[in-house]
Amino acid sequence: MDRAEIVDIPKAELHVHIEGTLEPELAFLLARRNGLTLPYADSTELRARYAFTSLQSFLDLYYGLMDVLRTAEDFRDLTTAYLDKARQDGIRHAEIFFDPQAHLRRGVPLEAMLEGFGAAIAASEGPSAYLIPCFLRDLGPGAAMDTLDELLPYADRFAAVGLDSAEAGHPPEPFADVFARARAAGLPAVAHAGEEGPSDYVRQALVSLHARRIDHGVRCLDDPELVLRLAAEQIPLTVCPLSNVMLGGVARIEEHALPRLLAAGLTVTLNSDDPAYFGGYLADVYQHVARTFGYDIATMRAFGETSIRASFLPAAEQQRLL
Ligand code: HPA
Ligand code: ZN
Repeated sequence: MDRAEIVDIPKAELHVHIEGTLEPELAFLLARRNGLTLPYADSTELRARYAFTSLQSFLDLYYGLMDVLRTAEDFRDLTTAYLDKARQDGIRHAEIFFDPQAHLRRGVPLEAMLEGFGAAIAASEGPSAYLIPCFLRDLGPGAAMDTLDELLPYADRFAAVGLDSAEAGHPPEPFADVFARARAAGLPAVAHAGEEGPSDYVRQALVSLHARRIDHGVRCLDDPELVLRLAAEQIPLTVCPLSNVMLGGVARIEEHALPRLLAAGLTVTLNSDDPAYFGGYLADVYQHVARTFGYDIATMRAFGETSIRASFLPAAEQQRLL
């Protein structure tokens, strides 16, 4: 199937970190604009460092490079670049993660982030976009609760709250109170779980956080009872195959759990995660998956439909996009 057919598929992206869309060229441009010197000679040298061995090895570089994001204009330009790419890939709707704590701790006010995101989304010719702030799980539930205090005055600007960053050793359950408070303010939960962490973290995300979607979730296959529950409740998994390959979760895309997740009757969406780092935006992900597993256009269109139905868009709006 050619790229035009992939682009033509109505689809939503539900798992993309806006900081993970920072291309090396834009990073150097923003560094210059902000009078900063990056510890890389140029974008070629920076790209050469994208040889990750684990989630942590990626996060170390990712949190470092995002230091170039300082002003509302920086967040605007970053978001505009992603939305342009998304439109070219035939994305009709995007639910975009951002990491408020990664910027607040560098002295960037929440207002600068939100002003930048808002300006880009307002000026965009599509896709529609929702924002999902994520708590950095390795900073713990206390820091997450403090961050929620800062977020709640802007709750009407968010579709949900999420949980991301270093997973191993940082289970969801201790964040139960944080997500309960967000839920009481009208913000549903999504959570990264079962990317590097065990299947029990997926279970905790459901039971303790009331997660409405699981980001990644591939490790759920280790627990047959959990798989039955995810299938029965039709909990969407936002799967990111290129990310899993780039971070060493699987050695090769051919070994990815995707066919087994589908065979188990799970609700699976395809996503890019951090496309500037992991070798492709969403149309590339669809193309790799179709080629690797020999899926036909009907199967690929079903991934697109599932993604729109798994979004937080109102039902009437989902119907309009399908
Ligand atoms: N996992 C956890 N945290 C992240 C990721 C991811 O894949 N990408 C950006 N932050
Ligand atoms: Zn992610």
